[in-house]
Amino acid sequence: MKTIVYHMTEDKIDLTAIKHAADLIKKGEVVAFPTETVYGLGADALNPQAVKKIFEVKGRPADNPIIVHISDIEQLHELTAEIPPIARKLAEKFWPGPLTLLFKKKTNISPIVTGGLETIAIRMPRNKIALSLIDYSGTPIAAPSANLSGRPSPTTAHHVISDFNGKIPLILDGGPTPIGVESTVVNILTEPPIILRPGGVTAEQLRTILPTVTIYHPPKKMSRDEPVLSPGMKYRHYAPKGRLILVTNLNENNYRKIDRLLTSNPLDDSKKRLLCLHPEHVHDVPAQLIKIVGKTLAEIQKNLFKELRQLDEDHIELCFVEEVVEEQEGLAIMNRLKKASSETLFL
Ligand code: TXA
Ligand code: MG
Repeated sequence: MKTIVYHMTEDKIDLTAIKHAADLIKKGEVVAFPTETVYGLGADALNPQAVKKIFEVKGRPADNPIIVHISDIEQLHELTAEIPPIARKLAEKFWPGPLTLLFKKKTNISPIVTGGLETIAIRMPRNKIALSLIDYSGTPIAAPSANLSGRPSPTTAHHVISDFNGKIPLILDGGPTPIGVESTVVNILTEPPIILRPGGVTAEQLRTILPTVTIYHPPKKMSRDEPVLSPGMKYRHYAPKGRLILVTNLNENNYRKIDRLLTSNPLDDSKKRLLCLHPEHVHDVPAQLIKIVGKTLAEIQKNLFKELRQLDEDHIELCFVEEVVEEQEGLAIMNRLKKASSETLFL
C-alpha cells in the first residue's frame, strides 16, 4: 500500500486533503491525523470492522479500549445515553482540549471500541485539522495514538511514517503537536472522580472544577491478568531498546553522581546519553553526552516522546533520565518516564 502524506497547517487547512481523508474514514479505512496532544490513528467509531483495523495495524491488545473523538458536543448523544451535569461543566471549561471523560456507553456502541467495557472514553480535540476531519467524516472518530503498540506516541508526522509507512493509506501532517503527551483520562462516574491517566490537562487545572479528584497510581509491574481501572495502563509503553535509568532523589548536592556513572561505564560515548530535565545543573561530562529535553515543564513535556524515540534512532544503549517533581506537567512527564524506564536509580 502507498501511504499518501498531505502537509498543512491549522491556519491553512487543505480541504482537498481533509475530504480525501474523510472519504477513507467513511469507507471504513484508517487514517492518521494530528491533535494538540499526539497524532491519532482514526477510524469510524460506529463501524466495528473499521475500528478492528486500528487494532490490527497497531498490534494493540483487544482489551485496550479506544478514545472516541467528537467535533460537536451534540455528538455525545450518539455515543452515550447519559450526560452527567459534571461532564457538561468539564466540557465547557476544557473542550476542545486534552481531556478525555468516561461515559456510560450507548448499547449500540461496539465492544470492539470499548474493549468490552460498559464505559466509553470521549474527547473533543483542539486541533483544527482534527476537528475538520471529524466534521467532514460525519461520524465520531475512534483513535488511539498513532504508534505501534509499545512505542512512544508520535508527536510529528515523521514518527507516524516510521511506524506505519505502507500500512495505512493516508497521513495528515499538521506539524509537531504542541502538548506532546496524551490527553488526561478521567473517570467521572465514580465518587471521588479519578484521573486514570495524567495528561495535557493538569490535576491542578482539573481541581478548579473537580476539587475531590484523586490520582490513580498504577503499580510499576502489573500482571497481564489483573483487573485494572484503565486497561491501557497494564501494558509496557514508550520503552526504548537500550537501558533507560530513571534517576530519583536528585538534588543539588548529588546530581553529579550521574556524571561518574556515565563516564565510568565502558560503553563508547556514542552509545551513552543523559536526558537532562534540569538545565541549571552543570555536568562534568563531554557535552555530546547531554541532551537538554527542555527548559520548562511544558517544553519537557512537548519534547519527551521525540527524545525517547531518538534514543533508538541513535542506538543508545545506556541512558540516564532525570526525575522532575510530580506537580503540574511534571505528573504526566513522570508517569511516562516510569513506564518507559527499565530501571530506577535512587541517588
Ligand atoms: O491525547 C490522546 O488521548 C490521544 C489522541 C490521539 O487523542 N489518544 C490516545 O489514545 O492517547 P490511546 O489509545 O493511546 O490511549 C487511550 C487510553 C488508554 O490508556 C485506554 O486504556 C484508556 O484511554 N481508555 C479508553 N477507553 C477507556 C474506558 N472506557 N475506560 C477506561 N480507560 C479507557
Ligand atoms: Mg497510546
